[in-house]
Amino acid sequence: MSVVVETLRKVLRYGHHEAIAVTVNEDGSPHAAAMGVRTVGEDVVLYPYVDTRTFRNIRRGSLVSLALTHNSLIFCDVVTGSPRLKFKRGKTDGIYLLDADVDFYIEATPRDIEIRNRVASVFTRVLDVYEGSGSYFSYSRANSMLIEALVYFTKIRAHGFTSLSRGGSVSKWFEFLEYSASIVRRLGSEELVKCVERIYEELKKLGMRIEL
Ligand SMILES: Cc1cc2nc3c(=O)[nH]c(=O)nc-3n(C[C@H](O)[C@H](O)[C@H](O)COP(=O)(O)O)c2cc1C
Repeated sequence: MSVVVETLRKVLRYGHHEAIAVTVNEDGSPHAAAMGVRTVGEDVVLYPYVDTRTFRNIRRGSLVSLALTHNSLIFCDVVTGSPRLKFKRGKTDGIYLLDADVDFYIEATPRDIEIRNRVASVFTRVLDVYEGSGSYFSYSRANSMLIEALVYFTKIRAHGFTSLSRGGSVSKWFEFLEYSASIVRRLGSEELVKCVERIYEELKKLGMRIEL
């Protein structure tokens, strides 16, 4: 087994992992989005919905980098499109990396796409795996729950809504979001709580009304 594949299997050893995928837009600028990934054989597979910009960029031939981190604030910046987001060149021509304190980078080239129920499985051949500058902190429930809150926020945002009726999937996602946000508020540092506030502001801006 090559060193790249061995490292990959170690870094992504717990099944589905969350990453920041960076692709290249039509105008050549980088685009970052949070995406789930896992290893299948020697490939890394991404699962973007077909209506995401990430998928459109990949279908147009973009290469991909993945930033692997458990720092929820990096996910927060990506999901909320923070002006703090910065990029740098990857080792491979045509690849951008998220310039942040991430643990690992993967550079990859898409080689096959399967689509089922509007979700693509993008099989990528890994070109390189290497360490980033690293996030330096121990396990925090608030940090993990902020990532959960962001997952449900992006589901609600992508689904579109005008009101939350009881029983539908949006209302279920909102319940999960509320639970995750409550843990962040109770146990998290000020900067984590700020992200939760941003999520709720965004939902209000999107015109969310809640039927209690
Ligand atoms: C931790 C996390 C994981 C996510 N995983 C996926 C995923 O696997 N596939 C997907 O389509 N969207 C996923 N999302 C939602 C997208 O990041 C979000 O909808 C994004 O805006 C869509 O991508 P785009 O910017 O390329 O259009 C995830 C969000 C978070 C916070």
